[in-house]
Amino acid sequence: MLLTEGSLIRMQDPPDQRSFYIDLGYGFEPFTTLESAQRLRKQNPNLPVLGVEIDPERVAMGKPFEDENTFFRLGGFNLPLQQGESARLIRAFNVLRQYEESEWAAPIEQLGQQMIPGGMLLEGTSNPYGSVWTANVIRRSAIPPYPVIREGFLFSTNFHTGFEPDLFQPVLTKNYIHRMVPGEEIYSFMERWKAACRNQAPMRSFGLRSLFVASAKELRNAGYKIDLRPQLLRRGYLYWRFA
Ligand SMILES: C[S@@+](CC[C@H](N)C(=O)[O-])C[C@H]1O[C@@H](n2cnc3c(N)ncnc32)[C@H](O)[C@@H]1O
Repeated sequence: MLLTEGSLIRMQDPPDQRSFYIDLGYGFEPFTTLESAQRLRKQNPNLPVLGVEIDPERVAMGKPFEDENTFFRLGGFNLPLQQGESARLIRAFNVLRQYEESEWAAPIEQLGQQMIPGGMLLEGTSNPYGSVWTANVIRRSAIPPYPVIREGFLFSTNFHTGFEPDLFQPVLTKNYIHRMVPGEEIYSFMERWKAACRNQAPMRSFGLRSLFVASAKELRNAGYKIDLRPQLLRRGYLYWRFA
């Protein structure tokens, strides 16, 4: 979000309105909400932040950390927004993985519809340390009638556990994790990525980041819309765009 969503993060709300960064399903303790708030507020010190949990005990854990721009509320996919409030950015990590695959699409649409035009939802699954993850990038179009679109799919590693495409298989999001079979788009993509890594194997001698970047470029040459911005690739973000 910090790398690509600066204009959404920095956008100033009109008087009497609040457009939140929302951490949905933040978990047992509100650390991800507070830590991401701290990072995002480097670009906008007044960014309104809302942690949402379906578990009242978890909401209670967040309440002591509230201030004039930070809130914790009980709620779910139907976001607990009040008059004059909206969502500009939503992070929902390791939430929909707990649901059935058939239950994935409806909350995505519902959350998307509650965002401002241009707003972005990052719906992802990570390993326990957050060092390897994948996420759906969902956008509320800025163009009327403001449809909710799947903008792309993001893979992230900090390289601490090595790098190979198979690393991501256990953390594929719910819409993909049961689809690693021939004929499915994610299967074809992962197979092509593995082939790219084999073809680019000599780059491994320059380090895993170099192999990662080279495999991304090969995927792009193979016709996948990969975002080749160095600030993403060098940090271990492979962004496969659909729209
Ligand atoms: C595995 S934890 C994830 C915590 C944190 N986001 C993380 O990635 O470490 C999933 C959390 O989602 C919450 N949750 C599940 N369904 C939810 C929903 N519909 N709305 C809000 N929170 C939900 C659960 O109460 C739980 O705290």
